[in-house]
Amino acid sequence: MGSSQSETGITEPVRPPRALATARRFAPLRGFSCGRGGAAWETVVNRTARGLYLGRENRPLTTIVLEDGSGRLIGFCCVGRDELPLRAGRHRGTAWSVLVIGTDRRHRGQRLQDGSSPGDVLLRAALERIAEERGGRDPLVWAHIAPENEPSRALFARHGFDELPATAVVGGDIVWVRPQRRRLAAMVPRPIGARGRTIRRIAAGEAP
Ligand SMILES: CC(C)(COP(=O)(O)OP(=O)(O)OC[C@H]1O[C@@H](n2cnc3c(N)ncnc32)[C@H](O)[C@@H]1OP(=O)(O)O)[C@@H](O)C(=O)NCCC(=O)NCCS
Repeated sequence: MGSSQSETGITEPVRPPRALATARRFAPLRGFSCGRGGAAWETVVNRTARGLYLGRENRPLTTIVLEDGSGRLIGFCCVGRDELPLRAGRHRGTAWSVLVIGTDRRHRGQRLQDGSSPGDVLLRAALERIAEERGGRDPLVWAHIAPENEPSRALFARHGFDELPATAVVGGDIVWVRPQRRRLAAMVPRPIGARGRTIRRIAAGEAP
């Protein structure tokens, strides 16, 4: 299949998102900008990109990058375990989190040829990565989002996150949670002579 660059400036097909062995000195993160409108969340993401590039990020996290067919960075996200900032309730404790996500400001508002947004591709990859870390299970995942950050709220809502009411944390952000999920388990016929049952885990929506 050939590659093509549409008016979005994105060469498709985009490369499969990949986790970096280390984000330190990963050049495209150096001057990364998801926006220069002065929104607090843009500043946080831009600073995180630079901190990752400089090797100043101390949290144990995995950085996932989305690059287009020419290798240009479209966006990045970081996943890791973090303390859920809730003092009480059943979601208390440490849980998987999408710590940061951002797409290059030149691609904000753009869609890929299949209709998904770059943020969709990144968030899907983040959730896949977390499931991989958990041996194929989908654990509870959380993120904190500013109430005014409409694009981010819309993105997380599309991927099964719900706002937890009255959970304002530092800076007024609200905690969003994607509950633990069971992936569909398809029963596979037991081979003659085999003991027990074989259960094949398949991704939700996939044909058995
Ligand atoms: C959150 C984010 C990754 C989602 O990316 P995405 O799903 O690819 O979607 P986009 O932001 O590009 O576009 C979503 C909508 O926002 C609009 N938009 C574009 N630029 C915008 C801007 N600077 N400010 C506000 N909205 C903007 C788009 O037109 C689009 O509208 P539509 O859905 O009606 O078409 C991306 O918005 C981003 O990088 N934001 C800045 C960093 C950030 O907020 N990170 C999350 C912190 S929790």
